[in-house]
Amino acid sequence: THLLLYISQVKSSPYTRLCRSKHILTVNGEFPGPTLRVHRGDSVIVKAHNDARHNITLHWHGLKQPRNPWSDGPEYITQCPIRPGQTFTYTLNFTDEEGTIWWHAHNSWARATVHGAIVVLPKNNRYPFPTPHADFPLILGEWWKRDVMGIPGNENITGGEPTLSDAFTINGRPGHLYPCGEQEGMSRIKVERGRRYLFRIINAVMDENMFLALAGHKMTVVGTDGSYTKPFITSYLMITAGQTMDVLVETNQSPEMVYLVASRAYNDAFGAGFDHSTTTAVLEYYDSDGGSNLFPRYLPAVNDTPAATAFTRRLRSLVDDTHRIDHLPMQVDQRLFYTFSVNLQNCTVAKKHCKGPFGRRFAASVNNISFVTPTKVDLLKAYYSHITGVFESNFPDNPPTKFDYTGDNLPENLLSSGFGTRVKVLEYNTSVEIVLQGTNVLVSDNHPIHFHGTTFFTVGWGFGNFDENKDPGGYNLVDPPEQNTVGVPKNGWTAIRFVADNPGIWLMHCHLDRHQNWGMTMVIIVKNGNTPETSIIPPPKDLPSCD
Ligand code: C2O
Ligand code: CU
Repeated sequence: THLLLYISQVKSSPYTRLCRSKHILTVNGEFPGPTLRVHRGDSVIVKAHNDARHNITLHWHGLKQPRNPWSDGPEYITQCPIRPGQTFTYTLNFTDEEGTIWWHAHNSWARATVHGAIVVLPKNNRYPFPTPHADFPLILGEWWKRDVMGIPGNENITGGEPTLSDAFTINGRPGHLYPCGEQEGMSRIKVERGRRYLFRIINAVMDENMFLALAGHKMTVVGTDGSYTKPFITSYLMITAGQTMDVLVETNQSPEMVYLVASRAYNDAFGAGFDHSTTTAVLEYYDSDGGSNLFPRYLPAVNDTPAATAFTRRLRSLVDDTHRIDHLPMQVDQRLFYTFSVNLQNCTVAKKHCKGPFGRRFAASVNNISFVTPTKVDLLKAYYSHITGVFESNFPDNPPTKFDYTGDNLPENLLSSGFGTRVKVLEYNTSVEIVLQGTNVLVSDNHPIHFHGTTFFTVGWGFGNFDENKDPGGYNLVDPPEQNTVGVPKNGWTAIRFVADNPGIWLMHCHLDRHQNWGMTMVIIVKNGNTPETSIIPPPKDLPSCD
């Protein structure tokens, strides 16, 4: 085990994009932020110093954080924010993950610019595929001309329309549409001919699932979310917001062309406004003498749900002589059924001025509860120190009423959700199945649902309403993909299983930030086991206080 120390300075830095300059929040002045490269088994200490004028917290997306929720990062869930001038020390133990995960700010909309890759190399650099010549992150992002820190003020409080970005980006650059000199244009990835490269693709976009394709080359998917997959060849990817994909590319094409990576949204929500632009980056051979840009032959259309699901169904865990899947429950102790809806709430309920349709505000919910984040004390502290009145331990195991979740004409009384800070409590080591059911309440969408503190196995999914008598018979209990973020298909369901063996307080939410802002979030508490080794570790000394 190596102990590595990283210092991250959060500060405001000038960047020019879309032909305009503005200051954005960065780590160490970089956008996207620095890549953290570690080996499996390493422990890393990150000293996060806040030199900006905004509060900040950092989250390690896809890192299980065994027994250490203190370092998980979501604001007012596991910590109070690091205030300007303060420092907080995160401890990261890389025990289970291998491949690509990432880090991002977890307060307000800071993650729009405060994010970066985490590369977890295998012990002794032994990959389950021929060792790549080199690897590099491809981070999908979004750029706003305006100050992103002002966006949640609109969305969260008034419940108004989502604020659309002005462009998608790859590694921080918007692509060929915006030629504003040197600082602009496309990210360029330089490769040698006749080599094998590992692309670590991260969807850090705030509000969209994304399609991605590469001109001229085959892509072989070998991993997702910090776990290996059975390799498969594909011409395009669908990466939900929050997911990562590890992709091998052989550079065996002619140097007479310049090859484009192209990415656009996958958004099949009827009537939703969103950014329709396509972002591009360049894959260029060192021995190339220029040549014309080749666009990928096939990039699915924005509303191509069949293409999205055809890709997703190919993800399978790598199971062979040396790779087994551990902790996949064959039987479960508990089955939970969670609905994910976009709702409307009355303004009198919100007690704020509304900017949503019909004089109401947009909201979003899990089992019809729109999560309310505490603001005075974080949930972990309240739980650990037995402070009462901060949350209720009565998150329902089912939605309040059964209805035709994915039907067309839903009764008006199903439109609204209630507010609450309610958590689900799981006993240590229970095996859990959660059916994530999308609904068509106000609008149906593919919700990328992300779990902190655990990975899960995606054992099944389908369109329409989950049928508890029929659907479990079709589960994949042989090689389901191990993930931390899964897209619940539009007007469909997804079933996941995991063992609750990581004591702590863990957030679960839609990784589309507009839905998260509107309340499509909930919290799971996994209780301590009977021994100190199966309990939450004591809090770090420099934990920021809320006052
Ligand atoms: Cu990637 Cu709670 O987030
Ligand atoms: Cu969502």
